[in-house]
Amino acid sequence: MAGQEDQFKKVLSHAKEYGFVFQSSEIYDGLSAVYDYAQHGVELKKNIREYWWKAMVQLHENIVGVDAAILMHPTTWKASGHVDAFNDPLIDNKDSKKRYRADVLIEDYCAKIEGKINKEVAKAAKRFGDAFDKDQFVATNPRVLGYQDKINSILSRMAKSLENEDLADVKLLIEELGIADPLTGSKNWTEVKQFNLMFGTQIGASAENSTQVYLRPETAQGIFVNFLNVQKTGRMKIPFGIAQTGKAFRNEIVARQFIFRMREFEQMEMQFFIKPGTQKEWYEHWKKERLAWHLSLGMGADNYRFHDHEKLAHYADAAADIEFNFPFGFKELEGIHSRTDFDLSQHEQYSGKKLQYFDPQENKSYVPYVVETSIGLDRMFLAVFSNSLIDEALDNGTTRTVLKLPPVLAPYKAAILPLVKKDGLPEIAKEIVEDLKWDFNTFYDEKDAVGKRYRRQDAIGTPFCITADHQTLEDQTVTVRYRDTMDQQRVPITELRAMIGKEVSVRNWLKKIQE
Ligand code: GAP
Repeated sequence: MAGQEDQFKKVLSHAKEYGFVFQSSEIYDGLSAVYDYAQHGVELKKNIREYWWKAMVQLHENIVGVDAAILMHPTTWKASGHVDAFNDPLIDNKDSKKRYRADVLIEDYCAKIEGKINKEVAKAAKRFGDAFDKDQFVATNPRVLGYQDKINSILSRMAKSLENEDLADVKLLIEELGIADPLTGSKNWTEVKQFNLMFGTQIGASAENSTQVYLRPETAQGIFVNFLNVQKTGRMKIPFGIAQTGKAFRNEIVARQFIFRMREFEQMEMQFFIKPGTQKEWYEHWKKERLAWHLSLGMGADNYRFHDHEKLAHYADAAADIEFNFPFGFKELEGIHSRTDFDLSQHEQYSGKKLQYFDPQENKSYVPYVVETSIGLDRMFLAVFSNSLIDEALDNGTTRTVLKLPPVLAPYKAAILPLVKKDGLPEIAKEIVEDLKWDFNTFYDEKDAVGKRYRRQDAIGTPFCITADHQTLEDQTVTVRYRDTMDQQRVPITELRAMIGKEVSVRNWLKKIQE
């Protein structure tokens, strides 16, 4: 646990120190749970967005994109259920005056029990050595089974109470488990109350004529309201998908864990419109395909797991999260939801407009069902960033901090460094930049000793450092130093573009989805 906390602290300070993420309006002491992406962060974020867009839109001939507005007609949110049901159950501590999400207090309690399971597993792994079979141990060890039963019964009781709007029972559960305020240890709790997460604002010049609107809490509704426009103008045939990336806003009360839970964040969502009755098949299809997308980045299969929802959102008939092993444990990274015909039917009802598809094979019209994939771009950023940040012990007894980003996502693909700032080396290095910059984001650096410059590039995740030295003047070759192995190789300048291209091309990385 301490190791995880240390890693998380490192992530926070590295993100700031190396120009990835800053607290929003920091000179005014910041705005809680709102962040700005800095010069390197914006590149990494853009590359993740592009990696998603290419996988979802470019590689699927039946998926197209839209970019809908953040502000939408207020009835949208009545129809979607957000005005009435987009709530978090909150509880206040009467002594500390701190406010918490009741469900998060209970989930954190369960995470502690899970910690005990992990300890049992680690102990047994040590005892049995190579012969240890984790799956078998977890399925048969009485102590582990006891812990798991406890977790299951707590979570299913909470899910049932929340579903039935039985907030008194949620409070009772907190009391029965003896959950205390994490900051003060006080168990003096108020009742549990529902709190709507949407940010409201006004459209219009004067108070009398203004209309209450909302900053969208999810991008999905911008897709639903455009379903028919896109279907007709694109002559789309079911099954087909509409994808979108963009900002969403939620007035999160438990705003913590850096960019994991923000008040302003970005989503990458795809709504896949299908024939009613085929939702199970498509739900399984998208679960598989989305996991394959994650795995293509090579961040370790052990770092992902599915979590099937017990408590389904008001719109879903099945839902699962892809959870990632963040520095604070396994948490939701992406959701795959079978949303039935809930959204389109609701919009039909509230708008009075038909939102149906005429199926030529069936010779009838119907409201399509939808399977949605929804991933937070900021969460994906945190997953990639935290997983890549490594303190590596070197043979000479020192350590280096290196950001082993998947090269396809790295902010800069290559740094071009003249060995010294004279003898014509800066000129030849700049010529290399001039050639490569048309294809790749490159970085030119001539300050300090070359070893120090390598370290700077390691810290921002640049996969290749290309050094022009005196030999370059003679034979037009350069030294290429690889970030991950620190190996160095002499390469003709004319081969650089192809060599870098092979390692960072989206094509080569995304092809792994099909493997
Ligand atoms: N349209 C469905 C939807 O919005 P969700 O599970 O509420 O579903 C989808 O959100 C994804 O958006 C989450 O898996 C997460 O990655 C991201 N997300 C949600 N709330 C977030 C927040 N406050 N900060 C950052 N990312 C968030």
